[in-house]
Amino acid sequence: MEVGGIQALRRWRAEQLGRVGLVPTMGALHSGHQALMTRARTESDLVVASIFVNPLQFGADEDFVQYPRPIEEDLKKCEEAGVDFVFAPALAEMYPSAPEVRVVAGRMGAVFEGAARPGHFDGVLTVVAKLFTLIAPDVTVFGLKDIQQFVLVKRMIADLNFDIELIGLPVVRDADGLAMSSRNSYLAADDRARALAIPRALDAAAEVAERGRGTAEPSAGGGSSGGSTGAGLPAAVEAAALAELESAAERGDLEIIYCSLVEAATLQPCPPDFTGSALLLVSATVGGAHLIDNLPLEF
Ligand code: PAF
Repeated sequence: MEVGGIQALRRWRAEQLGRVGLVPTMGALHSGHQALMTRARTESDLVVASIFVNPLQFGADEDFVQYPRPIEEDLKKCEEAGVDFVFAPALAEMYPSAPEVRVVAGRMGAVFEGAARPGHFDGVLTVVAKLFTLIAPDVTVFGLKDIQQFVLVKRMIADLNFDIELIGLPVVRDADGLAMSSRNSYLAADDRARALAIPRALDAAAEVAERGRGTAEPSAGGGSSGGSTGAGLPAAVEAAALAELESAAERGDLEIIYCSLVEAATLQPCPPDFTGSALLLVSATVGGAHLIDNLPLEF
């Protein structure tokens, strides 16, 4: 396995003839990242993992400085997962000066995480576009935990004509149900227990969706199904998740940032008679840590 910055990458890349897979990361790797690398391995001849904590996607009051950077452990995990090249550029190489020209995420980047973290997705897409240009992968693998990021990367690939196949892997969860995240390391043991309200909320929503599917179809005029309200099954699904989160918030366990059921393609709220692919998006702050999770649903 080779490790290097821009010069070493360019030299290495120029020598490669096979199909190249990219897994972009900010380090602090866990088994969810390793699952992405393993998948990239099956999709390509050579795997590049990037490790770069991108300042452009952090707000002024966010955790850029504290973000964990356990580089030696990360390199071991990359090696275990069969990575061929770890692209770990220095900050000054990626941003020799504050970039004037950036990618703009647009309307889908201004809602949910984008509303909670203004400019976040412009920063994400700018660095991902730079990684795509530098590494020139044939395929890239992203985790679906950051689902809004995935939707936006997909859109950027289409809008900017990157010739790259995008693969999304389902959320990897710890045994207690919490979605794996590098930021889980910020959670004290009792905060971790409090954070479990998030997967419980998703389970509650999944149960209502499942029951609703087994009964009458919700009608456009506000038919009810599976205990849903007059607003239809999507609203009942969202309400089930929200109820779980609100009782956790009342106990002081977390602060809800959002909990919304949206159409997967547009991130717009699902109408009462919605059919197709939807996403339940959830975000909450637990003990100061900003956590996100989601549940894909078919209606
Ligand atoms: O998902 C992440 O870790 C980051 O947002 C990414 C895609 C590596 C860009 O910095």
